[in-house]
Amino acid sequence: MNNMQNKHILLGVCGGIAAYKSAYLVRLLQNSGFSVQVMMTEAATHFVTPVTFQALSGQAVLTDIWDPRIPNRMAHIEATRIAQAMLIAPATSNVMAKLATGIADDLLTTTALARNCPLLVAPAMNREMWGHPSTRRNIEQLQRDGVNIIGPASGHQACGEVGEGRMEEPEIILLMLKRALTTKHWEGRRVLVTAGPTLESIDPVRAITNHSSGKMGYAIVDALIAQGAEVTLITGPVALSSPVGAKVIAVMSAEQMLHAVHEHIENQDVFFSVAAVADYRPEQTQAQKIKKSGAPLALQLTATVDILASVTRLPKPPFCVGFAAETNSVNDYAQHKRVAKNIPVIVANHAQHALGQEDNEVVIIDETGQYPLAKAHKSEVAERIIEHVLKLL
Ligand code: CTP
Repeated sequence: MNNMQNKHILLGVCGGIAAYKSAYLVRLLQNSGFSVQVMMTEAATHFVTPVTFQALSGQAVLTDIWDPRIPNRMAHIEATRIAQAMLIAPATSNVMAKLATGIADDLLTTTALARNCPLLVAPAMNREMWGHPSTRRNIEQLQRDGVNIIGPASGHQACGEVGEGRMEEPEIILLMLKRALTTKHWEGRRVLVTAGPTLESIDPVRAITNHSSGKMGYAIVDALIAQGAEVTLITGPVALSSPVGAKVIAVMSAEQMLHAVHEHIENQDVFFSVAAVADYRPEQTQAQKIKKSGAPLALQLTATVDILASVTRLPKPPFCVGFAAETNSVNDYAQHKRVAKNIPVIVANHAQHALGQEDNEVVIIDETGQYPLAKAHKSEVAERIIEHVLKLL
C-alpha cells in the first residue's frame, strides 16, 4: 500500500474554507509517491489561489473547461485517463448534488462524469447542510453509484457552530485513498493482532514496562485493513492514534492482554502476536504509594503467562505469527522460540535497531527457512510480512 510511486491522482478542490487543508494534502500525496494534478472550481479559487496549488503540485492547475492551453480543449477527458483515482476534497454540498444527478456544468463536474477511474469525495460543509434531507439523499445516491465518501468529521466549524460536516483531516483522506487503491488480498479473513508494551503496576504511581512503541504492530494492522481483513487490535499503552477501521481493545497489563486475547480468539483465522508482553510482573501491586526509606528495596517478581504459547495450545488455534526482538544471536533465538511456542512463523529483528524507530530490518523464519527483508519503513515491512504469511495460509 505504501508504494504509490507512479500513481497519479486528480485532486478536485471545491469552494469551501477547508480548501486551505487541501494544499497540505497535496504535499502528503506527493510524500507518499503520488503525482498530483489539481483541478479547481471557480468558487475554490476565492479561497486559495491556483498559484498555491501550482507551486505545490508542480503542474498548472485546471480551472476552466475552455482552457486555451489545452490544444483539443478536452481536459475533462485527458485529466482522468492518466489518473488512478479522482479525489474531490473538499466537496461542497452543491458539487455533490451535481455529481448525484449527473449535472456537468463546469470543468470539475464534467470531468467527474467523464472519468473512468474511482471517485472519492471528502465532504465539507456546515452541519445543517450536511444533515439536510437533500444532502442525505445525494450521499446515498453517490454511495449507490460506487463513490467512496470520506468522512466528514465532527467538531468546531469555521462558521462557529459545532457538529458533523468538517472535512476529514488530510492524513485520514490520504489513508483512505491508499486503501481504495490497494488490492484486497486479505478480504474475508479475520485477524487478531496484539501490539505495544504492557505495563505492570508496582503501586498506584509506578510501573514496569518496556520500550516498545507499538509502531510495528500498528503497521501490521494498517496493512491488513488496507488489504480487506477484519482486524481486532489488542493494544498496550502507546502514543499512537487508533487505527481507522479496526476494532480496538486497550489494555495495560499482561494479564489483561491475556484475557482480552482469549475473549476474542474464537473464529480468528490469523493471530499476529506483535506485543512486547512483560515476562514478569510485581508479585503484589501495593495499594498505597511505596515511600522511600533510603534502604535498598527489592521487588519480588512473578512470571506472567506466555499469551502466544497459550493460544497455540488451544484445540483449534488460528495461524500464529510470533515476533522476537533480540539483542544478540537474533536468528537462533527466534528459531528456538518458533519451535518452543509451536508457531509456524516468527519475525525476528535486532531490538536496538527497531524499538521506537520508523524503520525496521527483519528476518521471517518459517518451517522452510529464513527470509531476510531489506531495511525499510515499518509500513513497508508490514506489507512484506503479511504478503509472506498470506502465502502460507
Ligand atoms: N509473548 C507472549 N506472551 C508473553 C511473552 C511473549 O505472547 N508473556 C509473545 C510475543 O508477543 C512474541 C513472542 O511471544 O510474539 C516472543 O516474545 P519475546 O518477548 O521475544 O520472547 P519471550 O518468549 O518472552 O522470551 P525472552 O524474553 O526470554 O526473549
